[in-house]
Order: sequence, then structure tokens, then C-alpha cells
Amino acid sequence: MGRIRLLSETVASQVAAGEVVERPASVVKELIENSIDAGAQKIDILIRRGGISLVRVIDDGCGMDRDDALLSLERHATSKIRSADDLQAVATLGFRGEALPSIASVSRFRLTTREARALAGTEIVVNGGRLEIVRDGGEAPGTQVEVRSLFYNLPARRKFLRSENTESRNIEHQIHLQAIGHPQIGFSLLRDDRVLFQLPAAATLGDRVRDLYGVDLLERLVAVNGTASPKVRISGFIGQAGVSRQTRTQQLVFVNGRAIDSSLITAAIREGYHTALMKGQYPVTFLFLELDPAVVDVNVHPAKREVRFRDPTAVREAIVLCIQNILEGARAAWQEKFRAPLTSPHVSPKAGPDLRLRPDVSAPVESNRELPYTGPTVVNRVIAGTNLASGAPVSEIAGQAPRPPASPVDSASEAHALQRQSSKAAPQQFQIIGVLNKLYVLMENADGLVLVDQHAAHERILFEELRRRMEEQGVPTQKLLLPQTFDVPPRDADWIERNISILQKMGIGIESFGPGTFKIDSVPSFLSVSDPAQFMRKVIDDLNSASNSASAMRLGEEMIATSVCRHAVKANDPLSYPEVEKLIRDLLDCDLPYCCPHGRPTMIQISLAELEKKFGRKI
Ligand SMILES: Nc1ncnc2c1ncn2[C@@H]1O[C@H](COP(=O)(O)OP(=O)(O)OP(=O)(O)O)[C@@H](O)[C@H]1O
Ligand SMILES: [Mg+2]
Repeated sequence: MGRIRLLSETVASQVAAGEVVERPASVVKELIENSIDAGAQKIDILIRRGGISLVRVIDDGCGMDRDDALLSLERHATSKIRSADDLQAVATLGFRGEALPSIASVSRFRLTTREARALAGTEIVVNGGRLEIVRDGGEAPGTQVEVRSLFYNLPARRKFLRSENTESRNIEHQIHLQAIGHPQIGFSLLRDDRVLFQLPAAATLGDRVRDLYGVDLLERLVAVNGTASPKVRISGFIGQAGVSRQTRTQQLVFVNGRAIDSSLITAAIREGYHTALMKGQYPVTFLFLELDPAVVDVNVHPAKREVRFRDPTAVREAIVLCIQNILEGARAAWQEKFRAPLTSPHVSPKAGPDLRLRPDVSAPVESNRELPYTGPTVVNRVIAGTNLASGAPVSEIAGQAPRPPASPVDSASEAHALQRQSSKAAPQQFQIIGVLNKLYVLMENADGLVLVDQHAAHERILFEELRRRMEEQGVPTQKLLLPQTFDVPPRDADWIERNISILQKMGIGIESFGPGTFKIDSVPSFLSVSDPAQFMRKVIDDLNSASNSASAMRLGEEMIATSVCRHAVKANDPLSYPEVEKLIRDLLDCDLPYCCPHGRPTMIQISLAELEKKFGRKI
């Protein structure tokens, strides 16, 4: 007798449900997606005990007649696609005709639905996949689905569920995703009879973000509006440099309206932020990608969480470019705050205690001698000449200290700085108040109080200066006393072979020395490398994992970022007033002035309005 048998419809549905319905949040996701596909304007969700005991989703969408309602519970029954060709360009969230039968096979399921103009609706009750009741129902037009006792007939699956709190949080996250993805639809969530949120239909994505996460977050986002490439339209919001989270819960990405998880996109976002993101932190994004549906395959994941792109490189590049442009553009907003003239009258130093930096304090000799930072020596000389060091009032210096003349030592970079300076529209306006704890520069601009981390600021300045030199003149190298050979595993050897010319451009003198063996005889002179072989392994590890097609720039930037920290002024290095002032000016001239090359903030602005609020002057 044959050993192969066809599974019953119920068992087959339960097997399919194993993939579609992992947890209560998947039920919520599928039901909301159906409501959205049905053209709902408003979706109300109620959950009890983490959705394990009850999930109810009510929509005001198109509803179904009795025949369709019955059919909707059959496997592979869908109104959304008809042929395999339609699968090439899916425009709806659902397309498989799997969700409802799967859910109904692992729960006590009740569907009531009514078309807008129908006299009566239909009510259907299914228990564990078995149809129990079909009758007329009298609900309002739209559809209501109730899913009780999830996995009651599959105790093994039920055991895998987490605590009610965790399941609730998963559901909330799922609804956040859908709510952000569809701001024009109103959403409400009741958890164990408590209203968690009630989101009115919003006019814009910005309104929805504000309603869900508050105005504070919205203010720290930058709008993305663009056609970075003809193939990929990107819109939405991303966090300004320095805005990040410890988890990925606010890194939301939508492809043609569908919330997706994509390692490709996550990596592209990370690369776009590059030095504007702290290690171990995640960016905040509400990013919407629109592509021709024909070049996106949505049928690759059982929970429809992933998609496959026909041209992944184009998608990646569009995202990287888009984010880079936005972050650099955001600099203008910062500069604006330093352009407007200070409104408050300057405090005369005679009126109170002298809060100025002592001009006679100079930086420790070793702190920045061999650095491109031309500050201490040159500035001191100039300051002495113009008699500012002898204690002129702060208000005289603020915002207009003369630029040091080009010194013969560093005329190239100084000329460059001057050129950059003259390209700026107006001089920066700020007034230094003092330095807190030998680290934080306190200053005033038109917007209020600004705190600057002098170490982080110096890192950013050095980073950009070195990068600029690298672009213009190539990297100065330093010969090793003894060339060193080292072995690497085949994949790393392959990576080096492919990138050898880039590495050489970066100042790493490296050449092949037999299979799997390389010889290194010089390193960039701004690095102090004690063990060249180990240095190379680190470079490979960092860059190989960062991107497969590391560009020369990217490679150099990584190396510079790691080296800069060692050279920058440290927290406790006391700086003289002109040094601090030059530091701030140079910082404001940077491409990404608001964070250090490791993504930590360099400046924090506390506006006058915020201060007024804190002091209870304004509510
Ligand atoms: N809330 C709803 N309002 C109106 N029609 C609905 C609703 N939910 C489901 N339907 C109808 O029932 C059909 C089956 O739904 P189901 O979720 O099982 O499959 P699908 O959405 O077509 O595909 P997928 O399995 O990918 O979700 C849908 O194609 C749709 O026509
Ligand atoms: Mg569906």
C-alpha cells in the first residue's frame, strides 16, 4: 500500500499557517493589510492579553457579499491577482489568498462583513478551520474580523508565544508600521480596554509622525523629497546627523507602501550616514521607496516582510546618495543659526565676574603640533600683534577676530581655508561665554545657547582636513624600516587583490608576494602603525564588512576616522580663547559640523524658547 497521502484541507491550512501566522502580531498585520487593500479610511484594532485571547480589526472598507465572504476563507482565493503575470507587478499588500484561511485554521474566527449598499451583511464563524455558522449579520458597512484563542488547537505553537507584554509590544510596532505607511488612514488601538492611541486620518506623513512620536522627534528629522535616481523615488523623513536609537524600531522602510526588512537597505542607510552615526546605534528613518512594481519581487517571504530588487545596486546607490545629500544640506540650517546677528545685548565683562578664557593659557605642546590644525602657533602670534590677548572685551572679539595670515609652513591649507571662508555668505555670529569642565565650550548664537564638545569638534575638523588633503594631494606615506610580509585567508586575499590600487592610493604600500601572501612596505604617515600586518587585517575586517565595493574615499575615510581620535585635543586640554574661537569657526566650516567622525554630536543647541519653557516663563 502506498505511503503517500494527501493532507486534509484543515491540516494543509495549519501547515501554511505555520509560515503566515507566527504570532498575534502577524494576525494583526494580515488583517490590517486586508483592510487597507479594501480601501478603508479608518481601522480600529482591539487586542486582549497580548492578542492571544483576542484580536479584533474593524474597517470601513468595501466589504464583501456572502459568496465572496465564504470564498475568502478558502485557500488560494484572492481578489487581488488573477494570473501569474499579475504576480510580476503586485500593487496590493495581499496577493496569495492565504491569510484568512490560515488564521481561521488556528483560532476561533468570526468574520462579519457588509457591502456599502447591501441591505444585510454576512456573519461567518469558523473554529480551528471548521465552518460552523453562516448567517445574516447586521453590522455597519465594512468588515470586522475577530480572532480568539490563537493556536488553541496547536498547543505546541502556543508554547512558543512570549509574554503578553512582549506580544502586545510586537502588535503595537506592527500597527506603528502600518500607520506610518498609510497616514491618510485613521487608526485606533485598544489594549485590554485601554486606548493606546487614536490617530486621526492625517494630511501628511509629518502629521502622522508627530501624532505617533511627538513633535520633538519630528523637529529632529529632515524631509526627504527627491528623485535620487530615475528608477527609485525616495521620500519621507530621516533623522538629522546625531539622531539615533539603540534599536532598529524607528528605522522604518517602505517599498511601494509595504513595510519591509531589508539588509540591503539597512546597509545602504548606514553607509549614507557613515560618520554621522555612532557605532552600535541605529538611524531613525521613515523612508519610502517607490519603484516600478515590475522590478520588485514581493513573493519571496512567507510573511511578505522581504522583497527582492531586480537591480539591487541601483537601489543601494540611490539611498546612499540621497542620505549623504540630505545630511550635507542640513548644514545650511545650522549655519543659519550662526548667521543671524545676536539680539541680546552683550554682557560687558566689567559688569560681572570675568568668565572669559584666560588668553595666556595655551594648548599643551604635544596636543596639536604635527596636525593640520594651524591654530595655536599662528593664532597666538596674530593675537599678540593685534593686542587681543591683553584682554580686550569679549564683545569686541566676538564673531570678527581676524583670520591669521598664511604662514609659510602651511600656506596650502591656509589658502584653502581662506578660499572656503570667502565662499561663505556672511561671517559666523557667536559669542563665547566660557569653557565648562575643560571640555564643553559654552556660547551664544541668535537662537540661544550652544554647547560644543571641544574634543569631538576637533576630531571633525581634523577628519575633514585630512580627507581634503587626501583628495587633493594623495596621502603622504611613511616607509617602514623593515617591509613586512603577511598571510591572509583566500577570501581576504581576493579582496586585497581587487582593491590593491585603492589601497596604494590610500598610502598603503602593498603588493602581492605569492599566493595568499602580501608585502607591505609603507603606511599613511598620519597613522602610527606598530604592527603593519595587524593593521592590514583590521582594515580588511572593517572595510570588507562595511561594503563590498569600498571606494577609495570610503577606505581612506575609515582610516582617517580611526586615526583622528588619537590626534585631537583631549577633554582636559585647556585652550586659549583664540584657540577656542578658531576651533568653533573651523567647525562651522565643516561639511558635517554637527557630529564627530564617529557620529557623536559636536554641538547641542538649546534655544531661547526651550530655556523660557524650562524657567516657566512661557508654557
Ligand atoms: N477587510 C476586508 N475587506 C474586504 N475584503 C476582504 C477583507 N479581508 C479579506 N478580503 C477579501 O478576501 C480575500 C482573501 O483575503 P486573504 O487575506 O486571505 O488573501 P489576500 O489578501 O488576497 O492575500 P494574502 O494571503 O497575501 O493576504 C481578499 O483577496 C479580499 O478580496
Ligand atoms: Mg490578505
